[in-house]
Amino acid sequence: MKRKEFLQAVGTVVALSPLASNASISADKKIRVAVIGCGSVSGVYLPHLSKSNFVELVSVCDIKPDRAKKRAEEFKVPNQYDHIDKLLAGAPFDLMINLTNMQEHGRLNKQAILAKKHVWSEKPMANTYAEGKALYELAKQSGVRIWGAPAVVNSPQFAFMLQQVQEGKLGKVAGATAHYGHLGPTWSAFFYEKGGGSLPDLGVYNLASLTGMLGPAKSVMAMTNILTKERTVDDKGKITVEAEDNAMVLMQHESGALSHVMCGFNYFDPYGHQGTGQDKPTISVVGTKGAMHLIGYDWMPFGVDMATIDKEENTRYASDPGNYVWQMGASVICEALSKGTEPKINAEHALHVLEIIEAARKSQETGKRIDLVSKFPYPLF
Ligand SMILES: NC(=O)c1ccc[n+]([C@@H]2O[C@H](COP(=O)([O-])OP(=O)(O)OC[C@H]3O[C@@H](n4cnc5c(N)ncnc54)[C@H](O)[C@@H]3O)[C@@H](O)[C@H]2O)c1
Repeated sequence: MKRKEFLQAVGTVVALSPLASNASISADKKIRVAVIGCGSVSGVYLPHLSKSNFVELVSVCDIKPDRAKKRAEEFKVPNQYDHIDKLLAGAPFDLMINLTNMQEHGRLNKQAILAKKHVWSEKPMANTYAEGKALYELAKQSGVRIWGAPAVVNSPQFAFMLQQVQEGKLGKVAGATAHYGHLGPTWSAFFYEKGGGSLPDLGVYNLASLTGMLGPAKSVMAMTNILTKERTVDDKGKITVEAEDNAMVLMQHESGALSHVMCGFNYFDPYGHQGTGQDKPTISVVGTKGAMHLIGYDWMPFGVDMATIDKEENTRYASDPGNYVWQMGASVICEALSKGTEPKINAEHALHVLEIIEAARKSQETGKRIDLVSKFPYPLF
């Protein structure tokens, strides 16, 4: 189903209106932003947000008040809070950016939506697909919007790859494979607790890229396990790992293409957590008339190598990074809210990826292939 037909079918057109007509958006069209969660990733988000012409940083919040204080001072944010209730009752704002522990996202996003705030959530948007879908519906009813990371569809390399698929340059797409892993975060336990795991933390990028490129998946089979049973992390010391740290996911797309994602927290990665210097393919797509490979990670790509029946010599394309950076999701949303335009990032797509993650876990538990119910507008743009 094409994007326009899909939007009409699910009634999203109605939900778009707050974007253009949000009465609370200030005269200079800056979106008033509150950031909740002032840990590791806030140190990447805040420098980016503070440079955006579409963002006014109003408040920061963390249940660890020293962290909110530090970020407020560093980025000259006028208000700081130690609880979401105080944040929502405090200085007025338009968009909440949720950078808290994965397990907290659904609950905090719901509170913000009920307080009529738009939400940009780090992944995942909620703990389950059902919870995420309910949040999406609640936002529609409340006249606000919710979007979720990742922002990979914003890269010029993603756009190039989608275009090749759409234009039939690869012929009939048969298969794709993607991988992303490192040795796992060392600072917080939540990555390894129930509701955490390598699928929502890492696999989510490749799942968003592959479904974004090839279209919605209709079924999933997977194997997942816990390879490292105990870890030592900064906030809780020695912990027992409860969520999968090793995953292999197979998808059948509606187009008939089969794809595969492998991810985990036990992958030796010479490029480290920052990914600096990664110049090898991490996503490959092959069809009857061509093959293409994304160079670098999908969240930090450098180009696309492609060979086709018409040009058999492997050639590097899309090596201009443009303005893409992986932490741009929330600023892109602020720009869209400010201009009243629709961003490339799509909430139904994030929900579809969330359903795939849940289905992968169910497939591991049951040994069965799991059918999916969610869809999203494809192509995304
Ligand atoms: N760290 C990264 O490089 C990175 C990159 C991309 C995405 N992410 C995502 O960002 C999110 C946060 O990851 P992180 O690495 O920054 O974790 P972190 O542990 O460093 O930070 C999380 C912060 O949220 C705070 N918090 C938890 N519950 C809260 C609540 N109820 N109210 C207010 N504050 C609360 C914690 O006190 C902590 O300071 C996760 O979803 C993660 O997957 C992280």
